[in-house]
Amino acid sequence: MTSQMLCKARKYEEIAEKVIKKEERPAFHFSPRTGWMNDPNGFSYYKGKYHMFYQYYPYDTRWNSMHWGHAVSDDLLHWEYVPAALAPDENYDKEGCFSGSAIALPDGRQLLIYTGVARKAQEDGTDCEIQTQCIAVGDGTNYEKYENNPVLDEKHIPEGSSKVDFRDPKVWKKEDGSFACVVGNRPADGSGQILLYSSLDGFKWEFVSVLAENRNRFGKMWECPDFFELDGKYILLVSPQYMQGKGLEYHNGNGTVCFVGDLDKSTNTFKEESNHAIDYGIDFYAPQTVIAPDGRRIMIGWMQNWDTVGLYSPEKKWFGQMSLPREISVKNGRLYQWPIRELEELREEKVVYHDVTVEGTMKLEGIKGRKIDLELELSAGEDSYKKFMLQFAQNEEHYTSVCFWPQESLLEIDRKFSGASKDTVHERKCQVNSYNGKLEMRVILDQYSVEVFVNHGEQVLSATLYTDPAAEGITFLTEGKVKMNVIKYDLQE
Ligand code: FRU
Repeated sequence: MTSQMLCKARKYEEIAEKVIKKEERPAFHFSPRTGWMNDPNGFSYYKGKYHMFYQYYPYDTRWNSMHWGHAVSDDLLHWEYVPAALAPDENYDKEGCFSGSAIALPDGRQLLIYTGVARKAQEDGTDCEIQTQCIAVGDGTNYEKYENNPVLDEKHIPEGSSKVDFRDPKVWKKEDGSFACVVGNRPADGSGQILLYSSLDGFKWEFVSVLAENRNRFGKMWECPDFFELDGKYILLVSPQYMQGKGLEYHNGNGTVCFVGDLDKSTNTFKEESNHAIDYGIDFYAPQTVIAPDGRRIMIGWMQNWDTVGLYSPEKKWFGQMSLPREISVKNGRLYQWPIRELEELREEKVVYHDVTVEGTMKLEGIKGRKIDLELELSAGEDSYKKFMLQFAQNEEHYTSVCFWPQESLLEIDRKFSGASKDTVHERKCQVNSYNGKLEMRVILDQYSVEVFVNHGEQVLSATLYTDPAAEGITFLTEGKVKMNVIKYDLQE
């Protein structure tokens, strides 16, 4: 039965969606039906379609009592909104239906596993928040919360661990048909840890092990874990809170970490081999992956950050975007990311420049736009060069830039002059692999965002933009002579 609270949200979103014009949204990046969106949830393939659920508050563009919004797609680029899936309408999730994931059950139904947040009176008279893992089962449109919720609570966590920070279950099906899931938590040292659970039927869950421990190295609580095997390695993705910058690799605040390693099957513990940030831009958090029917593992993240959410515009009726879905692979101990190949089908109006020499400031005929796929190959001319800058989303007043210093192998994204109305984080630098001034970049613009894929996906820098979409100029600026190949496509909706 659909609760009153869910009915209200469903009615509201259907009407509220209509006041948002198509051109006020990104063209091929997912944005919420109305109101506020954060993490991707339940990113899955079910009954012949991709499903995306998301952390959702339909009534305002600020975070509030969490619902699950819902949309479906054939190509991960064009989404059809369907009615909201969950509302915080039970005692165990009254304070919110927090993040979680989805999986198909053997009987054909779809299982959602999410974090229910509730407040519980304590013996000393105060009350505190409790997080538990809960289940809802449905047919791809309507979901019924399980009568025995919660399925994982404080009885299922190691001694001394937090029942307040216990969230974001990511479920998968094992080869033998049973289920496993990872959940973010905090041990007694106040740091982060990832707990591993197993279940034969998806409903009854058992604690298996502490899969991974933060030991206060990467921020505190680890939110939104994902864990999977890829290209012969095991990968653990986490989104730590309260990170401290480490050189250019990690930055303060909410960040992301990809651990590459192995699984010790005798102890069910993860053996870390290397780690790096998942995204080196400004806006990327809480990614989740899905396996496509053709076997590709595809990752999508919330293209925002808790440290920059104050940049919302009060006059807009939606806030929050997802990143491009990215095909991921592992090479040389790193996670590589590349825009899903379906994006290439949106390409039109190809413009090519081969071996252009840029010195000083230059514009190129036909190279402009705010919904574009731009490939750049840089190399040094006869001499070395000191600096290369790409300015885009540009008009007389505003621009955002990507700047490369070959001698230091540094790349920077900077949206200080993008028209953002608040002085929050606007720039970030990273160390890239380059030699002799060579660098390859694929830059995807979609109205209100930029994603820069460096050296075939070895690194990515993502950022949201707050510039008028009519600002579509592109300028190249250099110190020294740069040789450049350019291919630009417009991306149709
Ligand atoms: C991450 C997060 C999750 C939580 C959700 C609440 O962005 O904080 O840990 O489940 O957002 O909306």
